[in-house]
Amino acid sequence: MLVLGLETSCDETSVAVINNGKIIANKIYTQEVHSQYGGVVPEIASRAHIRKIDRLCAAVLTEYNFTCRDLDLCAVTDSPGLAGALLVGISFALGLHCSTKIPLIGVNHLEGHIASVMLEHPQLSFPFLALVVSGGHTAIYQVEDFGMYRCLGKTIDDAAGEAFDKIGKLLGLPYPAGRDIENLALLHTTKETIDFPVARLSTKGFDFSFSGLKTAVKYFLADHDSQFIEQNKPLICFSFQRAAVDSLVKNICAASEQTGIRRIALVGGVACNRSLRRTLKSIFGDTVFFPSPSLCTDNAAMIAKAGYENFSRGKQRFPVMSPSGSL
Ligand code: KG4
Ligand code: ZN
Repeated sequence: MLVLGLETSCDETSVAVINNGKIIANKIYTQEVHSQYGGVVPEIASRAHIRKIDRLCAAVLTEYNFTCRDLDLCAVTDSPGLAGALLVGISFALGLHCSTKIPLIGVNHLEGHIASVMLEHPQLSFPFLALVVSGGHTAIYQVEDFGMYRCLGKTIDDAAGEAFDKIGKLLGLPYPAGRDIENLALLHTTKETIDFPVARLSTKGFDFSFSGLKTAVKYFLADHDSQFIEQNKPLICFSFQRAAVDSLVKNICAASEQTGIRRIALVGGVACNRSLRRTLKSIFGDTVFFPSPSLCTDNAAMIAKAGYENFSRGKQRFPVMSPSGSL
């Protein structure tokens, strides 16, 4: 079964084709224009998707010798995301549906991230816990099957990736800053650290909070002159990253202990972070699964996979744009 995936929820335009759940093509165009603004500008994102999506789709189909009529299903991200950006992908999918009668399925972007891990690790069996860590979301889901998710906790303020990006902005790094912060942290070689606070929430669930950490770094930077900051960027990035990773790891460990589920999937853009991967691997060993970096950040193969699995289970949902739609 050949499934076309379309992803335009934020600043990546992506088109993929998967065959019976296996990736054939996964083209991703990242809109670098936003780096000069320090964050994604919604209107610019929508216009860039409009300029790119049909050419990207045509490139995927021609490169692999498919026509639209070969496709059995089109899966498109319809929630959550930037309204104008989502609208581009959904409108493109609707156009395709009207002209070719291919069935359409709407996919929640977070469900796509969770499905991303199954593309390379089909042996991961249900139930498992998914730690979804991206620029817009940070949450833990208990996953019973495709389409069956229970949210055990989520951020009450900033997402983890958002915290990396905001600290990066304070340090003068381009957006998105997660990768640069990780690389700077790797340059820190001594045992010295700055004790930035790790939020401990007193709720019964497994919620996260990153705004206190962000404020602590902000005050630290305000208290030191630019020469000190410039010379100590590796120490600052290392200490911030350690606090952020600590908070993510503490919560997923507590959720695993409470549910008795040791199979863990780490997904979303922040799942590229090697310190986070290494720490989880040292705790969960062979029962923690990560997608390759290109499948951690936004891509259409994960949307096609989630659409395919739901469609195969008879769970079909016509796309409905929902910028704040949750799982
Ligand atoms: O999943 P994603 O591509 O987009 C959203 O759905 O938000 O995630 C992008 C986020 C950005 O905040 C970026 O800074 C972060 O993932 N990120 C990282 C790393 N690579 C990307 N954060 C920490 N360490 C990394 N290596
Ligand atoms: Zn994402």
